Amino acid sequence: MNGPVFTPTRTSEAPAGGTRTGGARTPEYTEQLIRGRRAIRAFRPDPVPEETLRGIFSLAGAAPSNSNAQPWRVEVVSGAQRDRLADALRTAHAERRVTADYPYSESMYAPVHQERRAAFGAGLYGALGIGPDDHPARAAYDAESLGFYGAPHAAFLFVTGDGGPRLAADAGAYLQTLLLAMTGYGVASCPQGLLSFHADTVRGQLGVDEGKLLVGVSFGYADESAPVNRVASGRAALEATTTFHA
Ligand SMILES: Cc1cc2nc3c(=O)[nH]c(=O)nc-3n(C[C@H](O)[C@H](O)[C@H](O)COP(=O)(O)O)c2cc1C
Repeated sequence: MNGPVFTPTRTSEAPAGGTRTGGARTPEYTEQLIRGRRAIRAFRPDPVPEETLRGIFSLAGAAPSNSNAQPWRVEVVSGAQRDRLADALRTAHAERRVTADYPYSESMYAPVHQERRAAFGAGLYGALGIGPDDHPARAAYDAESLGFYGAPHAAFLFVTGDGGPRLAADAGAYLQTLLLAMTGYGVASCPQGLLSFHADTVRGQLGVDEGKLLVGVSFGYADESAPVNRVASGRAALEATTTFHA
């Protein structure tokens, strides 16, 4: 088909004319936004107003993608549909009905990844009072997290097209843009790979017939009093991940 290959989809307030210099575009603001986001695992029940939801998801759509293909579909659940889906996910988990569009294996991690994962797990489960060898308690907590950590909303990110790794990379860019958009709007979030282990359940409940489920995101307003929300995650040193060539 001939015709324009670019259809503007940005509906938020990007300035016209190609320049996007906002007044707040400073390193300090950027640090605050990026480091101000962290995974939140306990939420207040208050819903996010619809206008805010629309603002966040419009902004997330400004994410970059290869040739601007935007190979994603996003399904946002709230209210009664959110409750039905949480029930269905818990049932699927209890009945061991696992359907992952993207295969998972512990062997995909290198030893250094495993060390970082172990450090993260020790911090998280420690904050929950769950001991390192208490595997049943850890499993129970993970199963409980299928209830979106109590968040009033969840978003499901499907990769469209063939759903292959190149297109999943685009969806990864969308994911981080979405998380930062939420942070900017004062909305807390937790990306949950665990939700993608029940792709057929999500598809069935939401009537989705396109794409592969990459990840879910629980979101809402943080319960600041919950100790689990005070868990801090470290990061590898710059030199461990980045080389500057000149
Ligand atoms: C793709 C992806 C999948 C994740 N899956 C889960 C999950 O299933 N459950 C969970 O509690 N956190 C999950 N997380 C959150 C990570 O544990 C968290 O981002 C990481 O430990 C760094 O901490 P921070 O987000 O607070 O900086 C996931 C994050 C990403 C990006």
